[in-house]
Amino acid sequence: MEVTRARTEAAQKSGTALPEAVRTPENRLPGRQGQPGKVIALLNQKGGAGKTTLATHLAGELAMAGSRVTLLDADPQGSALDWAQRRLQNGQGRLYGVFGLARDSLHQEAPQIALEADYVVIDGPPRVAALARSALLAADLVLIPVQPSAYDVWASHEMVALIAEARVFRPQLRAAFVINRRVVGTVIGREARAALADQPFAALQAEVSQRIVFADSVAAGRLACEAAPKCAAAREIAALAQAVQEMLR
Ligand SMILES: Nc1ncnc2c1ncn2[C@@H]1O[C@H](COP(=O)(O)OP(=O)(O)O)[C@@H](O)[C@H]1O
Ligand SMILES: [Mg+2]
Repeated sequence: MEVTRARTEAAQKSGTALPEAVRTPENRLPGRQGQPGKVIALLNQKGGAGKTTLATHLAGELAMAGSRVTLLDADPQGSALDWAQRRLQNGQGRLYGVFGLARDSLHQEAPQIALEADYVVIDGPPRVAALARSALLAADLVLIPVQPSAYDVWASHEMVALIAEARVFRPQLRAAFVINRRVVGTVIGREARAALADQPFAALQAEVSQRIVFADSVAAGRLACEAAPKCAAAREIAALAQAVQEMLR
């Protein structure tokens, strides 16, 4: 206890303290102690689908609930690393570790990293290549962010085929679409819903809307809930994290 308090005080002085909401080891939720953490990969070869936005936010939500989280940036462009750097530059506390691992050895490294974490979140690469295959070998759950249009659902077909292929060897691999950038106040169109219904995996009930706070907060190295606590965006991310935890149970 004393050690933790001293460490917290030292961190506060040096400006590296965790944000208020983050729990210390003493008050962590009952975690996954003794078991390797779960690996969640956000994959879709289409750029702009929301992999980085959802990966950084999902990791943040899990970390704020007291879980030990590591985010692996598997995109050679390093957007999640940029986000973490902006966070540091802006004096925001460190929420979770972000490491660049855009290598085909991801499937060997991620399970090792998961030994020291409750969740490892992989922010996927923009192409279907060896890197995406490697992420699939490591993942317990794949989330495929898609914008709510039939075109965007169809555009993920390569990733869907790759997941189906991976499931032959790893039947325990779970997968789901996550609707991202739904226009606020609308339901997703009939065409998009029909396109989703034709897919081998379901779409999560938890949908994420198109909201300026997501774009603004990511650019500022923050999370939506830090930019605007208790906002609708924050509630959507909380629901997403809840759905993810249920899928991994
Ligand atoms: N739900 C959302 N609301 C508003 N802007 C979003 C949302 N999701 C993603 N964006 C924006 O769209 C762009 C692409 O998102 P990003 O997460 O980087 O996609 P990817 O990692 O799949 O390429 C970014 O500028 C991001 O801020
Ligand atoms: Mg990205």
